[in-house]
Amino acid sequence: MTRRILVTSALPYANGPLHLGHIIETIQTDVWVRAQKMFGHDCRYLCADDAHGTPIMLKAQQEGITPEALIARISASHQADFAEFQIGFDVFHSTHSEENRRMSSDIFQRLEARGLITRKTIKQAYDPEKNMFLPDRFIKGECPKCGAADQYGDNCEQCGATYSPTDLKNPRSVLSGATPVERDSEHFFFDLPQMETQVKQWLSEDRVQPAIRAKLQEWFDSGLQPWDISRDAPYFGFEIPGAPGKFFYVWLDAPIGYIGAFLKLAETIDLDFDTYWGEQSETELIHFIGKDIAYFHTLFWPAMLMGAGLRTPTAVYAHGFLTLNGEKMSKSRGTFIQARTFLNHLDPQALRYYFAAKLSSGIDDIDLSLDDFRLRVNSDLVGKVVNIASRCAGFIHKQFDSQLASELADPSLQEYLVAASVSIRQRYERRETGQAMREIMALADFVNQYIDEKKPWVMAKSPETQSAVQGVCTDGLNAFRILLTYLSPVLPTMSAQAAHFLNLPALDWSELDTPLIGRTINAYEPLMTRVEQQATDALLAETKLEALALAEATKGDGAASSPQADAEPEAQPIDPIAPEITIDQFAAIDLRVARIAQAEHVEGAAKLLRLELDIGGGVMRQVFAGIKSAYKPEDLVGRHTVMVANLKPRQMKFGLSEGMVLAAGGGNGELFILSPDVGATPGMRIK
Ligand code: MSP
Ligand code: ZN
Repeated sequence: MTRRILVTSALPYANGPLHLGHIIETIQTDVWVRAQKMFGHDCRYLCADDAHGTPIMLKAQQEGITPEALIARISASHQADFAEFQIGFDVFHSTHSEENRRMSSDIFQRLEARGLITRKTIKQAYDPEKNMFLPDRFIKGECPKCGAADQYGDNCEQCGATYSPTDLKNPRSVLSGATPVERDSEHFFFDLPQMETQVKQWLSEDRVQPAIRAKLQEWFDSGLQPWDISRDAPYFGFEIPGAPGKFFYVWLDAPIGYIGAFLKLAETIDLDFDTYWGEQSETELIHFIGKDIAYFHTLFWPAMLMGAGLRTPTAVYAHGFLTLNGEKMSKSRGTFIQARTFLNHLDPQALRYYFAAKLSSGIDDIDLSLDDFRLRVNSDLVGKVVNIASRCAGFIHKQFDSQLASELADPSLQEYLVAASVSIRQRYERRETGQAMREIMALADFVNQYIDEKKPWVMAKSPETQSAVQGVCTDGLNAFRILLTYLSPVLPTMSAQAAHFLNLPALDWSELDTPLIGRTINAYEPLMTRVEQQATDALLAETKLEALALAEATKGDGAASSPQADAEPEAQPIDPIAPEITIDQFAAIDLRVARIAQAEHVEGAAKLLRLELDIGGGVMRQVFAGIKSAYKPEDLVGRHTVMVANLKPRQMKFGLSEGMVLAAGGGNGELFILSPDVGATPGMRIK
């Protein structure tokens, strides 16, 4: 039976570039969606940018552009990144759209008509200089409990206390530095407690994972509260109908943005609204989210949908958080990897595979260990899967005129592989992609063993067995076809390339047990190359550089990073700035781009590496640099860096040092040598 399914990933905030946390979520969703499509179901994948809220408004102000211009730019960057990671949305829209405005107003009015909207005047912190109400995260002060300085308005990073911003001692606005005052304002509330029984009923129908259910139970136990859904001007969002100066809180129109995206899609293909969103809809509606936003998706969202007389989600699937090398990704520590930075250095399919191999149906955090990433991709994809094709293709091309045998040599191999389809399909369905990948790799091992036992390279040498090579390699290539069909949801591009190589329109789940025989195949092109350590090192190095640039750009500027989106309130103290110099004093320093031509350890030196720097025009400089703790010589050779070319040469114990390379030093002895942007050549002057 064909299922009709609508699937979403959470809508990323349009206030900055995508990072690998966003990417793991969309990869998880995309793999699931592609699998459903491959199984023949009618499945659509919706997403959009979440374009509203205070941080986006402030960021646009800071850049001196309109919020509309900001979100247009970010949307283009998000879509470009997603496309390169091969995320196959059926539509990618924006919450700042006419469809969403209409839908949000409509749902609000339906809730109001059913008596689910209340109004209440509340006191809130107000910035008298900026003339705006301040969200909790835009107020800082001393913790009322432990006295720690510089704490946000909702909780203390030092002692973990939670409180309201009015409890802070010496509070100040992060935006202006002014002392906030309290002001009255009338707010709109969604009366969640009225919906409690219905939401509990919905939840009892197996909609969420056990860990999320446990969390929900805690929320029920501590009592549901009416939800504040309005914000005062100035705010970037939708004005509430009939309430000038009042706007929908971003989290009201964000999930409604799923419907907005649906409406956008329905402009291009014929989709009936009630079939998808009507109270009686039998379409499956599946949300993939991170565990941090479960509250919104499992309480507010179903309650709103019920209240508005629309269908509720079939399931909400949460995943854990991505960590890097075992630690929380952090902007200030330079471990926050942006999607684009990854793409600058590495193959997106390698990451799709690695994440697929790590993902499960649970909500545990998922670690990206770059060493493990390299080993896993090289051993599984390059060493096992791609290897099968490259081992077999040569014989077929060279000895059999690119023609496959007219029958399989050992049909039991194919039978064995196809028999696994039932369990692989089930693992995809249950979001146990890690298990699916392990099962597929075990099959790949089996196929390689088969080839190892037959030894076509030996058979090819003797006239009696030479003709049987065609059959063995036909078996191998059919096995490869089956494995790549299984991997198609994870590796769509490789699957398409494999189809082209095998002279097929596409690899098709329904054709798994149709052997490919008696036909000509196309030339074999390498499908994936090894992930080298140089590439992962370069990824980390660029990520660190971005962190430095960010620290530079946001120095003394509390509002630049947006507290709401990814709360990263861990700016570290910087070294005091050195005394001023004039432009002439600066110009006296001759900084040059240099290529590290050689790098080696210095016998007897604990901290130094000896570098030979090419600064163009045939000029070489020897420099002893104190960077041994941070770099291996072999990783430096060939890199471009920046040197002080007119530093007075200094005779050292180990030789003459003719200059200095520039490196950034962190607090705990970390070191990062500088690199010019791609394209700079040795000898270029830095000015
Ligand atoms: N705009 C809201 C979602 C609205 S949905 C109607 C939002 N945006 S977000 O950009 O902060 O996050 C988007 C998704 O990425 C969320 O599901 C979030 O959990 C996920 N992730 C953000 N950082 C993450 C990691 N480090 N790891 C895994 N997922 C993470 O929340
Ligand atoms: Zn405290």
